[in-house]
Amino acid sequence: MSAPLTRSRAFCDAHGLEVPILMAPMAGASPPALAAAVAGAGGMGGCGALAMPPQAIHEWMQEFRTRAAGPVQLNLWVPDPPPARDPAREARLCDFLARWGPKPEPPDDAACIDFEAQCDALLVARPDAISSIMGLYPARMIAAMRARAIPWFATATTLAEARAAEAAGADAIIAQGSEAGGHRGAFEAAKAGERAVGLFALVPAIADAVRVPVIAAGGIADARGVAAALQLGAAAVMLGTAFLRSLEAGIAPTWAQGLAGAAPEDTTLTRALSGRLARSLRTGYVAAAADPGAPAPAPYPVQRALTAPMRAAAAERGELAGMQAWAGQSAARAREEPAGQIVTALWEGARDLLAGAR
Ligand SMILES: Cc1cc2nc3c(=O)[nH]c(=O)nc-3n(C[C@H](O)[C@H](O)[C@H](O)COP(=O)(O)O)c2cc1C
Repeated sequence: MSAPLTRSRAFCDAHGLEVPILMAPMAGASPPALAAAVAGAGGMGGCGALAMPPQAIHEWMQEFRTRAAGPVQLNLWVPDPPPARDPAREARLCDFLARWGPKPEPPDDAACIDFEAQCDALLVARPDAISSIMGLYPARMIAAMRARAIPWFATATTLAEARAAEAAGADAIIAQGSEAGGHRGAFEAAKAGERAVGLFALVPAIADAVRVPVIAAGGIADARGVAAALQLGAAAVMLGTAFLRSLEAGIAPTWAQGLAGAAPEDTTLTRALSGRLARSLRTGYVAAAADPGAPAPAPYPVQRALTAPMRAAAAERGELAGMQAWAGQSAARAREEPAGQIVTALWEGARDLLAGAR
């Protein structure tokens, strides 16, 4: 067997997978049906639990388990301290956002759900892996995962972050290239833009530097991408956007249509939707917010709260312009098929490509 196939087989055996393809945990876009379809095809399902209180995490897991016996990972963002508020800037943002939807009010309390309680809910749910993004879990959580033998997959966007994650005890590194849809996982939010590294540079750099397996994420959406990532040193791949048009994903039809027609340059990195850097379709609002005359976004989670009325109205009307439409740079390769069929086709194609590799 070629080195990439041996490496991916070892990863699959260690984590109960049949094929080395993981569904990315996508907050707001990881329904149990999608995770179960991926797990049912031999991959690993995923759930982005960022916006889910403990009871919702419990219910998600229960529904997943009724649908699939395969492996699943749960995921949280590691929170930053609450940001300083800037009332004058927020007032300008409210005026700007009123052009795109109902005029928002500066939020009283933009705090997130209790992170400690979410961590406890993840541990109780006993997934096959727990992943992190935006930083490292606190020592208490790392010890609790270890005590329960739940592997920790830590997202890294740079070599330094990967090294820090391995030193903290991560069991695998998710190397998130800058092609990736959704938020950049940078540990330092303010540095996310200047440290955006593409997957072709990131995967071999991390694979050569750490001893734990590397899971490649970002812009992988066909068999060639899967094979290339494994050839570069990854043991498995994690796909987000590639599943968004699947029959189980259930995203807004306008978003799905936007993905279908998107060239790589039709996605862009923006802070305008949430306050943290993320890759989105260049919608009308995202383009307007990048105009030099537009007010600079507030930090996360204030900006996220400010854009909530616009996003909700756009979703209700089915208008892409004000929607939150995350997309990786390979969006156009996402297929409108059952997710299990996507997993199978990608792995069969990649395995054939790798069969003769050394
Ligand atoms: C809609 C969407 C939501 C996402 N939400 C999360 C999240 O909650 N947690 C996380 O670790 N990554 C999240 N990501 C990033 C993915 O984990 C992954 O890095 C990315 O999807 C890989 O790039 P690709 O979309 O080109 O496959 C999200 C991505 C998308 C597209």
